[in-house]
Amino acid sequence: MSQEKSQESATPQKTPQKTPQATSIDGAPRGALTVRIIAMPADTNANGDIFGGWVLSRMDQAGGIAGVERARGRVVTVAIDAMQFIRPVRVGDVLEVYTEVESIGRTSMQIHVEAWAQRFQTHVREQVTQAMFKFVAIDDAGKPRPIPKEV
Ligand SMILES: CC(C)(COP(=O)(O)OP(=O)(O)OC[C@H]1O[C@@H](n2cnc3c(N)ncnc32)[C@H](O)[C@@H]1OP(=O)(O)O)[C@@H](O)C(=O)NCCC(=O)NCCS
Repeated sequence: MSQEKSQESATPQKTPQKTPQATSIDGAPRGALTVRIIAMPADTNANGDIFGGWVLSRMDQAGGIAGVERARGRVVTVAIDAMQFIRPVRVGDVLEVYTEVESIGRTSMQIHVEAWAQRFQTHVREQVTQAMFKFVAIDDAGKPRPIPKEV
């Protein structure tokens, strides 16, 4: 083998590697990706699956982020409707929470929230929950305030 050839094979590969896209078995998620977090063993119930309350809390958090952005200030959760747990979340899954503002009232707004699990060590993504959250925009005193018009 010539000197030139052996140097060639020792050169590290510089071609950029693409991250594989997740494959969804439930169509496409609705809304914008707002929260992404890994499910850890500390969050499991007696069945070994992730607590529904942990998932619900992440959904509330994501809805709150979307609500604060839309209301341009503080919001509180006032109601959660049509909560559905479709499939379990397991340790190691990456939970992805998507949000979409559904409608705006005077001081409140409905935000559709759904969670998807990218299954552990795979690129398979499945929908695990969905719900309609209602958030109210509040002022510094915790009283409802009108939601500003979209700019
Ligand atoms: C949300 C809160 C500020 C509303 O106060 P309020 O005095 O009931 O206010 P209003 O009656 O003026 O209602 C404000 C808006 O909330 C809506 N709303 C109030 N209670 C509601 C309920 N139980 N379900 C659905 N919507 C409700 C009203 O329809 C109204 O919407 P609109 O202005 O878009 O028409 C008050 O109930 C509160 O602080 N709740 C606790 C919130 C909280 O701590 N969340 C975290 C829970 S851990």
